[in-house]
Amino acid sequence: MLVLGIESSCDETGIALYDTQKGLIANQLHTQMAMHAEYGGVVPELASRDHIRRLVPLTQAALQEAGVQYADIDAIAYTQGPGLGGALLAGAAYANALAFALGKPVLPVHHLEGHLLSPLLSEKQPAFPFVALLVSGGHTQFMAVRGFGDYELLGETVDDAAGEAFDKTGKLIGLPYPAGALLSEYAKLGSPDAFAFPRPMLHSHDLQMSFSGLKTAVLTAVEKTRAELNLAMDDPLPETVRNDICRCFQDAVADVLTAKAQRALLQTGFRTLVVAGGVGANWKLRENLSHISVKTSPKAAAETVQTYFPPLPLCTDNGAMIAFAGAMRLQHGVQSAQTADAFNVKPRWPLSDIVKQPAL
Ligand code: KG4
Ligand code: ZN
Repeated sequence: MLVLGIESSCDETGIALYDTQKGLIANQLHTQMAMHAEYGGVVPELASRDHIRRLVPLTQAALQEAGVQYADIDAIAYTQGPGLGGALLAGAAYANALAFALGKPVLPVHHLEGHLLSPLLSEKQPAFPFVALLVSGGHTQFMAVRGFGDYELLGETVDDAAGEAFDKTGKLIGLPYPAGALLSEYAKLGSPDAFAFPRPMLHSHDLQMSFSGLKTAVLTAVEKTRAELNLAMDDPLPETVRNDICRCFQDAVADVLTAKAQRALLQTGFRTLVVAGGVGANWKLRENLSHISVKTSPKAAAETVQTYFPPLPLCTDNGAMIAFAGAMRLQHGVQSAQTADAFNVKPRWPLSDIVKQPAL
């Protein structure tokens, strides 16, 4: 069975073909990052228009990459939500029109289900059950993944996503959007002890996180430094200060995510951790999570944890995860949607609609 996957929830247009026998046979992506960079963030209207421009050529490129024809496609899966309304509509309209023209079923997919299942597309696959840490510009969540369709939201950020905090903090110190990758490069040159930034909700005894206060702490440090050095508003910070801020901010985020990952592992009893999303590329977070272990009591021996970092192209937004989630839905007997339902995009689709609630 051959499934075409369409992702258009934010600033990436992804088109992929997943064959249930051969695996992923095409994966095409166009990122709008450069287009949005000059505005310092994603401009929804520009995003929608660009998706419309890219969907057909990317599908043709995917068919060519796989050496198949439109007629070979058995089903069309697309991201129904959550995401930007207009961007989702571009993908939904295209998926439904193509499905209608080809006379094939259309499968609406929850974007987060795509992310959760994407590790199963990598060569070294984690076995169920596992804890998934989804950490990107839009999401920061821990989930218990017990099998297909069995996901439990364990906890998430109460305000900014971690990637968003990286981007906003980068903006404060004059870095271009999206700032995460560059900020983490500068962090390599900074001193970890230069600033004592807070670790918000580190001891909150749950799996909730908060990153907006950390961003405010950076703002206060930047303003204080500017005043001390007599810098004008548009003067750049000295490189050493910039690097120190990057290092201390990054370490604070990584510490919170690591401590919460340990809590999620203890709470579930699972010993496998999967990290997905763009912030998963961060070197400090990788270093921490690669060596993570858990203790069930202070005197117990440390238990090792297997940590998986799927390849970055599968961690960030892509069509492959949507094609794969669609194929899994078909294989598990989930019916395709009627057109009226399928065309109903869900920009604010809560994960709780498809996952179990955390135990009270
Ligand atoms: O998963 P992703 O590509 O897209 C979505 O947000 O959907 O994640 C992008 C986010 C951005 O906020 C970016 O700044 C951040 O991931 N990011 C990083 C690094 N590389 C990308 N954050 C920290 N360290 C990095 N090395
Ligand atoms: Zn995403």
